[in-house]
Amino acid sequence: MTKLLVLYYSTYGHVETMAQAVAEGARAAGIEADIKRVPETVPEEIAKAHHFKLDQAAPVATPDDLAHYDAIIIGAPTRFGRLPAQMAAFWDQTGGLWLKGALIGKVGAAFTSTASQHGGQETTLYSLLSNLIHHGMVISGLPYSFQGQLTLDQVSGGAPYGATTIAAGDGSRAVSANELDGARFLGQHVAGLAKKLA
Ligand SMILES: Cc1cc2nc3c(=O)[nH]c(=O)nc-3n(C[C@H](O)[C@H](O)[C@H](O)COP(=O)(O)O)c2cc1C
Repeated sequence: MTKLLVLYYSTYGHVETMAQAVAEGARAAGIEADIKRVPETVPEEIAKAHHFKLDQAAPVATPDDLAHYDAIIIGAPTRFGRLPAQMAAFWDQTGGLWLKGALIGKVGAAFTSTASQHGGQETTLYSLLSNLIHHGMVISGLPYSFQGQLTLDQVSGGAPYGATTIAAGDGSRAVSANELDGARFLGQHVAGLAKKLA
């Protein structure tokens, strides 16, 4: 069976929620989808003091897990318009896989969250996708057939470069129904591509 991995990092839960929707979309396309997260690198006492969401149920991934999937969709919140150190540290440990060409030809895509509407969604998606491109993966964006990304009647994430949400400066905004639809669409779309390639 075609297998897809949703690999994410989330400090406060928005990207975690998006990851679950991406996996739902992939499963709706009839493939197996696992959700894993990259290791937290912030010391636990600091994470607690800053109210990180520490009850995330997804198992922690190791770099060797990646080779077992036909498709990998990665998600992380923006940090100054680019991917967070936690996600970068994970990919920085995949040199051995790169040397073997272990991920060449697998399908990849990305999703993200920012505090503000123009806080760097597209640059963050590019910085996430860059890791997959260097591994020789076949990259998918979020096609405009997901028409929800064209909406102007509400504040909403969603971009041709990947699925997105907007968390607000204090993290108080929940992932919207339209953004969840975009995440599901991305999962389903990438699953369909992976099935065809497999
Ligand atoms: C160090 C740091 C840098 C950040 N940089 C940005 C930024 O450049 N643009 C922005 O809109 N939000 C920025 N944020 C806000 C986070 O992206 C926001 O908390 C995140 O999207 C929420 O997702 P999560 O709940 O999955 O952690 C930053 C947060 C931190 C801690």
